[in-house]
Amino acid sequence: MRTQVVIIGSGPAGLLLGQLLHRAGIDTIILERRSRAYVEGRIRAGVLEQGTVDLLVEAGVGARLKAEGLVHTGFDICIDGTRHRIDLEGLTGGKTVTVYGQTEVTKDLINARVASGAPLIFEAENATLHDVESDRPRVTYETDGETHTVECTAIAGCDGFHGISRQSIPDSVLRTYERAYPFGWLGILADVPPVSHELIYATHPDGFALASMRSETRSRYYIQCPLDTDVADWPDERLWDVLKTRFGADAAATLRTGPSIEKSVAPLRSFVAEPMRHGRLFLAGDAAHIVPPTGAKGLNLAAADVRILSWALIDLFKAGSTAGIDGYSAACLARVWKVQRFSWWFSTQLHRFDTEPEFERRVHRAELDYLLESDSAQKTLAENYVGLPFVDPRGVA
Ligand code: APR
Ligand code: PHB
Repeated sequence: MRTQVVIIGSGPAGLLLGQLLHRAGIDTIILERRSRAYVEGRIRAGVLEQGTVDLLVEAGVGARLKAEGLVHTGFDICIDGTRHRIDLEGLTGGKTVTVYGQTEVTKDLINARVASGAPLIFEAENATLHDVESDRPRVTYETDGETHTVECTAIAGCDGFHGISRQSIPDSVLRTYERAYPFGWLGILADVPPVSHELIYATHPDGFALASMRSETRSRYYIQCPLDTDVADWPDERLWDVLKTRFGADAAATLRTGPSIEKSVAPLRSFVAEPMRHGRLFLAGDAAHIVPPTGAKGLNLAAADVRILSWALIDLFKAGSTAGIDGYSAACLARVWKVQRFSWWFSTQLHRFDTEPEFERRVHRAELDYLLESDSAQKTLAENYVGLPFVDPRGVA
C-alpha cells in the first residue's frame, strides 16, 4: 500500500490533520489503536480558542460547533468564596472562547472522515515506524493478526502522550522537559444545569475547583485531589459537598446536583519533547507536549500544531518546497513554550501546594490580589486565555 502521509492516532490532532490534508487533495491513512466507540466516548476538556474554532470551520467541520457551541465572553475567578469576573471580551478588544466538548469535536471529525471515504483504520495494532530518516518511510501495523505495510512520504505522529511515534526519535536527538504536579483533578460529568452561565475557576484553602459545562443542561466539575485518589472513595454526594465548599455560599445555594455520568481522576503534568520533527516524522499534539488542564490549552495547542503541519505538508506536496517542513518544529515550539508558561502559571496560581513555604504562599496570594486590582495583569491573563495571536511562518498575517 502507498499513501502520501500516514497519520498515527485519531485524536483531535490526527483527525484534524487528516481533514485539512484531504481538503487539500493530499492522501492520508489514519491508524488508530482503539475502537471508534472508545475514541468517541473519551471525556476531555471543552474550551475552544477563536483560532481553533476558525480552523475547524475552515476544515469544514464547524456546522454543529457553530450551532451548539456556547460563546463565552468571560469567566469568574473565585477566591476563598468571593467571585471576580474576568471580562475576556472587554480585555482583549472583542475576543471570546467557545465551550464545546472535545468529545464532540472528535465525533464531528470522525463523521467527516467517514463521509469523505478516506481511510481511518480503527483497532490497528502494533503500528511501527520504519526508515523515518529517509524520504520514503514506511509504517507497518496489524489488523486481525494480519500485517500490513504502508509506504509514504511523511508520517504524522499524532498518537498522544503514550504513543509510539516519539520513540522513533533517537535518544541522542530527543530532549524532553517535564514538570509533574503533586496532585490531580477529580472530574464529574452530570446532566444538571451549570451553576453559572460562565466558568468558575476557584481557589480555596482546601484546593482548586472548576465549574465548567458541556451545554445548558450538562455540567462538568473538577476538584483538586491527591494523586492516589480512588474514585470509589468519592460517592457523588461527597464530591458535591466539596464543590459547594470551594465555590462559596452564593454558588452553593444554587449549585444543582444529580447522578454522575462519568467520574475520573487525571494527573497534572507539563511536558515538552524537542525537536518535533525528525527526518520525515512530524510530532503533533500530545505526542509532543502535555499541559496541565487549567486553562484548557491541550486541544488548542494540538490544533495550532496541526495548522502549521498542514501548511508545511501542502508546501511539500503541492509546491515541492521543504521550507515548511524544515521550519515546522521551531514554528510550533515558539508557541508551545508560551502556552506552557501560561498553563503552568494559571495552575500554580489556583492550586494548593501542601509543601509551599509560607513566604511563597504569601507571594502567591499577593499575585492573585494584584490580578484582581490590575487591568494590565487581567489583560495578560485574558489574551492568553482566548489564545495568543497566530503567527503564520509563511509570512502571511
Ligand atoms: N497506534 C495508533 N494509535 C495510537 C497509538 C498507537 N501506537 N498510541 C496512541 N494512539 C491513539 C490514541 O488511542 C488516541 O486516540 O492516538 C490518539 C491520540 O489522541 P489524543 O491523546 O487525544 O491526543 P491529540 O490528538 O494530540 O489531542 C490533543 O488535547 O485536551 C488535550 O490531552 C487532550 O487529547 C487531547 C489533546
Ligand atoms: C472542561 O470543561 O473540561 C474544562 C474547562 C476549562 C478548563 C479545563 C477543563 O480550564
